[in-house]
Amino acid sequence: MTAPAAPAEAELNARFEAVVAAQERIEPRDWMPEGYRRTLIRQIAQHAHSEIIGMQPEGNWISRAPSLRRKAILLAKVQDEAGHGLYLYSAAETLGADRADLTRRLISGAQKYSSIFNYPTLSYADVGTIGWLVDGAAICNQVPLCRGSYGPYSRAMIRICKEESFHQRQGYELLMTMMRGTDAQRAMVQDSVNRFWWPSLMMFGPPDTDSPNTAQSMAWGIKRHTNDELRQRFVDMTVPQAEALGVTLPDPDLAWNPERGSYDFGEPDWAELRAVISGNGPCNAQRLAHRRRAHEDGAWVREAAAAFAARAAGEEAP
Ligand SMILES: [Fe+2]
Ligand SMILES: [Fe+2]
Repeated sequence: MTAPAAPAEAELNARFEAVVAAQERIEPRDWMPEGYRRTLIRQIAQHAHSEIIGMQPEGNWISRAPSLRRKAILLAKVQDEAGHGLYLYSAAETLGADRADLTRRLISGAQKYSSIFNYPTLSYADVGTIGWLVDGAAICNQVPLCRGSYGPYSRAMIRICKEESFHQRQGYELLMTMMRGTDAQRAMVQDSVNRFWWPSLMMFGPPDTDSPNTAQSMAWGIKRHTNDELRQRFVDMTVPQAEALGVTLPDPDLAWNPERGSYDFGEPDWAELRAVISGNGPCNAQRLAHRRRAHEDGAWVREAAAAFAARAAGEEAP
């Protein structure tokens, strides 16, 4: 008896496209186009790296938190980010990626992480601003990913988004507390918002006219909205929050447009974004050096875990 012939690639592809079109999920055992697998690995890895590197700017303030309560909140938040990295590296592994290889690519600079984490945190108000604006922008980006076409990634995003919404709230609450404080505290908040507003808008990536992979990613259900759509959504969500907080967003062109039912806003400095992405932001070198050091310092843990696993496997062998 001969085995049934494997379905031809055209048939497999038709099945894949039908699943994506029906907004159902592609699972690790399913056939998928190589480009889809590669794009997802790149996107998930970049996302995982961002979670891990994103621990650094705020981790910088854990030992200097102004109270036990603030320290407990910040510790919980930074630990969540480590957890997000873990879910995402695991999701990448379901596509055949190797975690050690992804780490090598991060610390060699071959793979990117979010541009926002290359900016310094100069005051405790930055912890609040990062929660409010950076985690807020991450939520705008990530909520649609919960409906993405790849099962393990979309399921990881559901949990991550719940935790991101805690991050956003703790940041906003921190800023609200400072805005009810002294003039010096209000000035710290305003200075922090001035520094983080434009980099937060850049988190959505280059303008649509300069984003060549968007169309393919949308066709594959990896991406649900364009960069400019998400940026607009973020601005519309954030302006009323800024008003409630009593801070000014540093954009003279920001104005309600009744015809569009949205806010008009100025153009981010795309040359700055390109510089930060290509490794020339204020903290790129520092972030990678820190990550590399942490990786090297952890070598003995990986060796011990591997030795333990090998011994346990030996003991189980008949
Ligand atoms: Fe996160
Ligand atoms: Fe977060």
